Amino acid sequence: MTSAIVSNETAPLDRGRVAVDIPMGWYQVGWADEIEPGGIKPVVAFGEDYILFRKEDGEIHMMTAYCGHMGAHLGYGGVVEDGCVVCPYHGWKWNESGKVVDIPYSKRVNPSRRLGTLPVKIVSGLIFAWYHPSGGEPTWADPMPAIAEHGHPEYYPIWPHLSRVEEMNGHPQYVVENQVDAAHFVHVHKWSEYPQIDDYGPDGHCFTSLTRAKLKTKRGTVTQHVEVKAWGVGIVISRHRFEFPGEETSHEKGGLGEVTTICTTPTSPGRAELRMTAWIPREEGDEDVPSGRAAAMLRASHREVYERDWQIWDHLRYSDKPAYAREEARAFAEVRQWTEQYYDWQER
Ligand code: FES
Ligand SMILES: [Fe+2]
Repeated sequence: MTSAIVSNETAPLDRGRVAVDIPMGWYQVGWADEIEPGGIKPVVAFGEDYILFRKEDGEIHMMTAYCGHMGAHLGYGGVVEDGCVVCPYHGWKWNESGKVVDIPYSKRVNPSRRLGTLPVKIVSGLIFAWYHPSGGEPTWADPMPAIAEHGHPEYYPIWPHLSRVEEMNGHPQYVVENQVDAAHFVHVHKWSEYPQIDDYGPDGHCFTSLTRAKLKTKRGTVTQHVEVKAWGVGIVISRHRFEFPGEETSHEKGGLGEVTTICTTPTSPGRAELRMTAWIPREEGDEDVPSGRAAAMLRASHREVYERDWQIWDHLRYSDKPAYAREEARAFAEVRQWTEQYYDWQER
């Protein structure tokens, strides 16, 4: 039997930087209302086990999960007492700075042993932790600006019904590049036309893009304006506005619309948790649970991200040198150039 050589060309594999790197940045690790005062929650992030705990006064902190005495996981059976975490194994008590402040059966505490902590901030009900591979301080103070719709009486509360988390294969870099990917809206999200990216560009730690698309609906052709702002690689905020025939709106013009955040947090190499939060105007008569048009809007947002985008991302192998079409090259190159700063810590 003979075998035919189809091609004798070989090319080196392009595995891409995201196979191993976690860029520095603010990443969402939960929702503030997930944890009651006095509560503890185990969290896996950045290749490590942590706990989030909420002091009785409401402050939230994040700390290494494993007790500095003999390594019990503080998130399983630990309790919050006087603003500290008490280990379930032998009762050692750890404060928010990771220092042991009490060993119930010893007169001495061991001051040399300290648990790692991460800076934590809460913005509009989302908990963010600062990650830097070598422990560097945050390079920008607030993870993202407050969402004006948060707590607005005409919007649903985000927790628990408008918040969702899933863990999948992926990396925040894919998500942050998605905003300038005009072509994928047709092929992945089934839009009838390629959208127009009106403007895009970086401003410090924020990268903005403004996209406009024509959608065919029963009410005629509707223009959808999407404003996307990424804050570092971990946080993406989208605002959607619809312009119906005969009406005039723009990216700047108000009106109650849908706002979503898509926050991608690396958990272990090649894996990430994707948290999506939606601020949607309340249907008349509703309390916390969306119904009717609002429920349909939420289902559609979840479908677009968790089914359509993620079917691609879950199996994608990131390429450091993609073969861009001429029309898309500039926008992708700008996003990538902007994200360089978050990988800067590495010596290359
Ligand atoms: S392992 Fe935590 S007190 Fe012993
Ligand atoms: Fe997408």
